[in-house]
Parts: sequence; C-alpha cells; structure tokens
Amino acid sequence: MSDSPIQDELTGHEYDGITEYDNPIPGWWSWMFFGGIVFAVLYYMAYQLGTAGTSVAQAYDNAVTANLKLQFEEIGILTPDEPTILTYMQEENWVLFGQKTFEGNCVSCHGKEGVGLVGPNLTDDHYKNVKRLGDVATVIQKGAANGAMPAWQNRLHPNEIVMVSAYVASLRGQNKPGPRGEEGSVIDPWPAAPTE
Ligand code: HEC
Repeated sequence: MSDSPIQDELTGHEYDGITEYDNPIPGWWSWMFFGGIVFAVLYYMAYQLGTAGTSVAQAYDNAVTANLKLQFEEIGILTPDEPTILTYMQEENWVLFGQKTFEGNCVSCHGKEGVGLVGPNLTDDHYKNVKRLGDVATVIQKGAANGAMPAWQNRLHPNEIVMVSAYVASLRGQNKPGPRGEEGSVIDPWPAAPTE
C-alpha cells in the first residue's frame, strides 16, 4: 500500500475509497490548545473584573507630572511677580508648559490660542484688568469680574501661575482675530527682557 518504511496504521474507515492514517494530534499540542482556552477565560475575567490597570496615556501623564515635580523642586516655589514672569517668558520650555496649562484650564473661556470667547482676546494690546505685566498673574490668581474670570490660586501651583502668565503675556501682539473685538484699553508695552 505505501512505499514508506514506516507502516502507519489506518483508522479503519473508508469513504469513497479514501482511507485515513491514524495520526492523532501530539499531546503537547492539545495541552497548548486547551491551556490557551483556559488562559483566555482567566485572562478575560481578570481583565474585566480585576482592578483597572494604568493605561498608556495615564502612565505618560504620570511620568510627565513626576518629571515636572522634579523640575519644580529644582527651581523652587516661584513668586508670580513681574521679574519672574519676564524671566520665564524667555524660557521656551516653560512657556510651552504654560501653554499646556492654558490648554488644560483656560481655552473653554479664552478660546484656543487665547483669541477670546467668554473671556477677552488675550492676543491684542487691549486689557481690562491689566496695566503691568505682574497684573496678569494677579488676575489669574484672584480672578476678576466677580468670578466670571475664576480665581486660580487654589487650583494651580504657584509655578503653574508663573508659566501660564508667561504664556499669556507672550500671546500679546499676535493680534489674532477673535469673536469679541477689542475690550479695555491699550496698555504700555511689557518691560524689556532682562539681560544676563
Ligand atoms: C469661566 C471662564 C473663564 C476661564 C475658565 C478663564 N477665564 Fe480668564 N477671564 C474670563 C473673563 C470673563 C475675563 C474678563 C473679566 C472682566 O470682564 O473683567 C477674563 C480675564 C482674564 C485675564 C485678563 C484679561 C484682561 O483683559 O484684563 C487674563 C490674563 C485671564 N483671564 C487669564 C486666564 C487664564 C490664564 C485662565 C486659565 C488658568 C483663565 N483666564 C480661565 C473668563 C475665564
């Protein structure tokens, strides 16, 4: 029947002249197959019923926050005043940090890129509550117009107030068109950047 030196056994049944060797699946294969099913059930239960793990996005946010805390430790707790804001306006990374703070807390009222929405346009030379650079931080800390502009001093770290102030101050002069038009009056330019 076969030229093979190995004489395989037949299963003994025949359909339309077709016969079948009796070659059962190896034991290790069956174990993996059924083990896989058992694992899938246990894994599904652990995934659906177990405590939530850390998502990739969460892990990233945690890492960024941890890193910032380290950097905050290095620079200490800043005072949100004019010289400090002016200094950090020159630090690109920190202005970017301020932008993130702005995007996370302020765009709902001031619009993306600060062009204004519920709150005034922050990209022009007109201000309602600001006469000098330091006032930017004061308004952010204490709020304005009876809470229409909320106070942030208990919600943001003092360093975040400095960075978001630096970002807001850096928007001035971009004069992007917004939905509200000019509000308040034109104020003096920001002081010149400190020379090192
Ligand atoms: C709930 C809406 C709202 C949110 C959120 C908000 N603001 Fe305001 N903001 C306002 C309003 C309204 C004014 C104008 C107050 C007034 O009419 O005197 C204002 C004014 C300001 C001013 C002064 C502008 C001027 O012309 O005097 C600055 C600076 C400012 N906001 C920054 C921020 C920053 C930074 C954040 C986020 C940390 C923020 N705001 C979040 C509503 C908001």
